[in-house]
Amino acid sequence: MSVTLSVIGTGYLGATHAACMAELGFSVIGLDVNPSKIESLNAGIVPFYEPGLDPVLQSNLAAGRLQFTTDFAQAVSAATIHFICVGTPQQAGANAADLSQVFAAVDAIKPHLKDGDLVVGKSTVPVGTATLIADRLADIPGVEVAWNPEFLREGFAVQDTLHPDRLVVGVNGPRGEDRLRQVYAPLIADGVPFLVTDFPTAELVKVAANSFLATKISFINAMAEVCEAAGADVTQLAQAIGYDPRIGPRFLAAGLGFGGGCLPKDIRAFMARAGEIGAEEALTFLREVDQINLRRRAHTVDLARQILGGTCAGKQITMLGAAFKPDSDDVRDSPALAVATMMHNEGASVVVHDPKALDNAARISPTLTYEQDLITALTGTHLVIHATEWSDYRELDPAAAAAVAAGRHVIDARNALDPKAWRAAGWTYRALGRPTA
Ligand SMILES: NC(=O)c1ccc[n+]([C@@H]2O[C@H](COP(=O)([O-])OP(=O)(O)OC[C@H]3O[C@@H](n4cnc5c(N)ncnc54)[C@H](O)[C@@H]3O)[C@@H](O)[C@H]2O)c1
Repeated sequence: MSVTLSVIGTGYLGATHAACMAELGFSVIGLDVNPSKIESLNAGIVPFYEPGLDPVLQSNLAAGRLQFTTDFAQAVSAATIHFICVGTPQQAGANAADLSQVFAAVDAIKPHLKDGDLVVGKSTVPVGTATLIADRLADIPGVEVAWNPEFLREGFAVQDTLHPDRLVVGVNGPRGEDRLRQVYAPLIADGVPFLVTDFPTAELVKVAANSFLATKISFINAMAEVCEAAGADVTQLAQAIGYDPRIGPRFLAAGLGFGGGCLPKDIRAFMARAGEIGAEEALTFLREVDQINLRRRAHTVDLARQILGGTCAGKQITMLGAAFKPDSDDVRDSPALAVATMMHNEGASVVVHDPKALDNAARISPTLTYEQDLITALTGTHLVIHATEWSDYRELDPAAAAAVAAGRHVIDARNALDPKAWRAAGWTYRALGRPTA
C-alpha cells in the first residue's frame, strides 16, 4: 500500500490510531511535541497502560511500517493524509473546550502540506471547529479537511479501532470520502457501517454519543439516590429495567459515577458550545447529569464519615483504585482520586492502591499516600472504599483483608463486590444505592 499517514498527537488516541493504521498495512509516522513520548514509542514501549497495544506497536515498528518523530516537516512531508489527535481539555475556570492544541497542531503542519493532502480531525471538538480549520488552511491549494470522530474506549482501544461499531466521516469536498474509504477499506469490508455527513453532524455525533452515555449513568445514579431514601436496591432495579430491550442493561451500573478525560469535559464543552450557538436550553439537562455525577463523590464521603463515627479525621482509609475506570492508568477527573482527596482534606490518612495508575495519580495528587502492594495498603485500615472496578478487587479474599485491617468496614462504591462473602469475613458492607444490601 503506497499511502503514508501522519498522526499528529500520540497520546491515548493518537498512539493507538497510529499503531492500528500500521496494522492495517499503511506506512505511518506519528508525531508529538513531547519528546519523551516519542522516544518511548520508538523504543516499542507504550507510555500508558492499554491492554493489547504493546504487541501491535512492536510488530509494526519491527516491520518498518511505523515510526515516531517530533519533526513536523518530516512527518507531514512524507504523508498525504494527516490525522489530528491532539488533546482538547476543559479550559481552566470555564466549561468550554481548550482548542489551543488543535490550532497549534494545524498551524505547525500547515507549512508542510501539499496539494492533494487531506487533514482529518479525530479529536473531540465543539461543533464549528472543522470549518474553522478548513478556513485556516484555505490558502493552501488542494488541501481538504474531513472530520472523523473517534469512539474508542480506553481498555479496549485496539479492538475498538480495528473493529469499531461505526465510522463517521464529515466532509465538505470531493476527496474526503474517497480517501477515508480507502484508509478504512478492510473495516468497511468487514461490515462496519460507514456514515458520511457534513462537518457539524460529524462533530455533533461524538458529543451526542458521550452525552447519552453520561445521561444513562447519571439516570441510574439518580435512581440510586431515590433507592437510598426509600430503602430499595438499585442493582435489582437496574437489572429489572435492563431486561426491557428499549432500555437495555449496559451503562446501568450505579456507583461512584463517570470520570476520565472524555465524558465530564465533553458534556461541559457541549453545554458551553450550545450556549454560543443559541441552543443553550436544549442542553440544560446536562447540567443536572453533571451534578448527579459529582454528588456521588460527596455522598461517598458522607457515608465514610457516618461509618467512621462522624469524622474521617485521624482515620486510615484505603482506596481500592485510582484510575477513572479499570484496565486503564488514566486518572484524569478520576472519581476515586476525587474522593480520596476530599477525605485527605478532612484529615484522614488515605492510602491509595491501584494496579496500574499509581505513577499518574502521584503526579496529579502528590499529597496522598500510594501503595503498590494490596495487603500492605489494607494493613491497619479503618475503612476500605472500592472505587475502581479492577478484577483484582473482586478477586480479593475478604478474610485476608480482614486479617490485616484495624476496622472491618467496606464501602462498595462500584456495586461489584460480593456482600455475602465480605460479611461472612466479618466486614460491615455498605454500597451506593443499596441501603439494605
Ligand atoms: N482517550 C480516549 O479514550 C479518547 C477517545 C475518543 C476521543 N478522544 C479525544 O481524542 C483527543 C485526544 O485525547 P487523548 O486522550 O489521546 O489525549 P492525550 O492528552 O493523551 O494526548 C494528546 C497528545 O497530543 C500531544 N500534543 C499537544 N499539542 C500538540 C501539538 N501542537 N502537536 C502535536 N502533538 C501535540 C500531547 O503531547 C499528547 O501526547 C481528545 O480530543 C479526546 O477528547 C479521546
